[in-house]
Amino acid sequence: METNQMKELNKITYGAKIIANCTGLNHEGEGICKITGIKDGQEIENYVLFVNNMLPGEKGQIEIGKIHKSYGYANLLKVFSDKKSPNRVVPFCKHYESCGGCNIMHLDYKAQLEFKKDMIVETLKKIGGFSNPIVNTVLGMQNPNYYRNKVQVPFRELNFKVNCGFFAKESHHIIPIDECLIQPQLTTDIIKFIRNICNEFKIEGYNETNHSGLIRHVLIRTNHTLDEIMIVLVLTKAILNDKEKLIHKIINRYKNVKSIIINVNDKLGNTILGDKCITIYGNDYITDELCGLKFRIDAKSFYQINHTQTEVLYNKIIEIGKFNTEDVIIDAYCGIGTIGLIASKYAKEVLAVEIVEEAIYNAKINAKNNNITNVTFECNKAEEQIIKWANENKKIDAIIVDPPRKGCDQKLLNTIDLMKIPKIIYISCNPSTLARDLKILVEKDYDIIQIQPIDMFPYTSNVECVVCLKRR
Ligand SMILES: C[S@@+](CC[C@H](N)C(=O)[O-])C[C@H]1O[C@@H](n2cnc3c(N)ncnc32)[C@H](O)[C@@H]1O
Repeated sequence: METNQMKELNKITYGAKIIANCTGLNHEGEGICKITGIKDGQEIENYVLFVNNMLPGEKGQIEIGKIHKSYGYANLLKVFSDKKSPNRVVPFCKHYESCGGCNIMHLDYKAQLEFKKDMIVETLKKIGGFSNPIVNTVLGMQNPNYYRNKVQVPFRELNFKVNCGFFAKESHHIIPIDECLIQPQLTTDIIKFIRNICNEFKIEGYNETNHSGLIRHVLIRTNHTLDEIMIVLVLTKAILNDKEKLIHKIINRYKNVKSIIINVNDKLGNTILGDKCITIYGNDYITDELCGLKFRIDAKSFYQINHTQTEVLYNKIIEIGKFNTEDVIIDAYCGIGTIGLIASKYAKEVLAVEIVEEAIYNAKINAKNNNITNVTFECNKAEEQIIKWANENKKIDAIIVDPPRKGCDQKLLNTIDLMKIPKIIYISCNPSTLARDLKILVEKDYDIIQIQPIDMFPYTSNVECVVCLKRR
């Protein structure tokens, strides 16, 4: 009897094709299916499979891929027509199935925003331990296309030719891209043009297997009007034959190229940029305008990738920060000074800190170019610099923190608490570390006043968030 029952159960093995129901989405936008079946001879209930492309409420046939002890992955083979999600749309990018760039383009845009809000709520519950977090509706884009102002494209040697495109999902296999709907068409054109020049001038593409070849990546940065373009050629060494001819070809065709840079990266691994930049044409920066101010952006410094939504984010910071002209504000993790400089007209003084030297160099120039005199910049770790300010007995009215994905250093959070800073504006691109840090701050002496997500990265499962906290 038992044996017959076991025969009817699904086999949880690589390659097995089974019918499954999708009940939710994980933070990567993959469908979550819980199945009962036999794994390694044992019956398992609620084994979790993450299914690429499947949406909540759908039922369909899936094929199991990689499996781990308590969860695995599967591919969607078909959705039963009467069990299709009303939120399913046909992805409008022809590369979507294979390219690893976007992951939720099969979800209607309005539903993408709802998914992002739910994901933040769930993460705040799970990691932050908050029982009923109130999260505002995600601020989305009117026209969520062609938004990326920075693109980094891998160049690889394939069959004695340079090939470029984006990496396929979870691999380093290159998908040649002839259009990408989240970056300007101009950017795609330049990438293809540079690939053709590389082939014409016999510039060898990088080979990851034996760490040979010359060109590894091309990074393009554009300003929001597309009249300033920076091209960074990431090479394994600083020698580029036919350099002058190459420059000439590029600037002849693309008049708005203001900067061409060689970046040298001879290290093994996936880090895109190396330490050394050599400007071979024009300036070592381009300029962009944000919230009425002008900013110089260099190759290595951080700059938000979606201009429209960055203005939405920065305006939100000013709105929820409710700063007044007597306030002294810290801008921690300030990059090229964008937030601190924009906030400076609402405050008496801004103290800004950032770890990247080039960013601080440009931040100081940005202050000068915008005639702003009440912001000072320090090149340091935020967690170290804030201790210095605390030791100087600085009275701080508010702190803006905008850390990288790994979130704030514990030392920084402790010092904010020790200094009894009345207001914190926390900007995050990673709900998990945000939830972790909010938990710490709430356990200290802070209340969350508002959580506002902003859709900085349409068609991907990433989301930006700004949170206002006040001291109890
Ligand atoms: C998400 S970016 C924010 C930059 C800036 N606020 C903006 O809106 O453009 C995070 C910044 O933190 C910087 N950073 C990383 N670790 C740091 C640390 N320990 N101390 C200070 N800055 C750091 C990075 O170089 C990067 O510029």
